[in-house]
Amino acid sequence: MENTTLDDIKDASVRSLLETSALARSKAYIPYSKFAVGAALLATSGQVVTGCNVENVSFGLTICAERTAIVKAVSEGVTTFSAIAVSAVSKNEFIVSPCGACRQVLAEFNANLPVYLYNPENGKVCITSMTVLLPAAVLPANLNDALFGN
Ligand code: THU
Repeated sequence: MENTTLDDIKDASVRSLLETSALARSKAYIPYSKFAVGAALLATSGQVVTGCNVENVSFGLTICAERTAIVKAVSEGVTTFSAIAVSAVSKNEFIVSPCGACRQVLAEFNANLPVYLYNPENGKVCITSMTVLLPAAVLPANLNDALFGN
């Protein structure tokens, strides 16, 4: 994990992805936690798919911003990704990182996906990857073909 700031990121596509994830926070449906999270998923085609957290009165049904983005993308036929940016503003220095469920769902499509965590309030960015966030993940290739009879 590398800690940096938006100002120090020179790659225009990464800067844009970070800013897009911050904008996606404005759509967050968060009547319960009031904690807005935005995600921007960069497809290998260059297309960017956004997501926000969508909460529910049955709290456990809440869907995180990262899973919203990936489900939106896959449902549109977009399944290959080159990066994700996640934005949230926390009270302390901590930059919000994907929950365990989101890590597994992201790993399904790219176990080495670069991950950029951004706090748009103080400009802090943490650069990491799915390899670091979910080592030794169970991946599609790990399933035994015999399970499916082929
Ligand atoms: N949340 C996300 O959307 N993504 C994360 O990476 C962490 C948590 C959401 C779920 C819930 O709506 C709120 O943030 C508080 O946990």
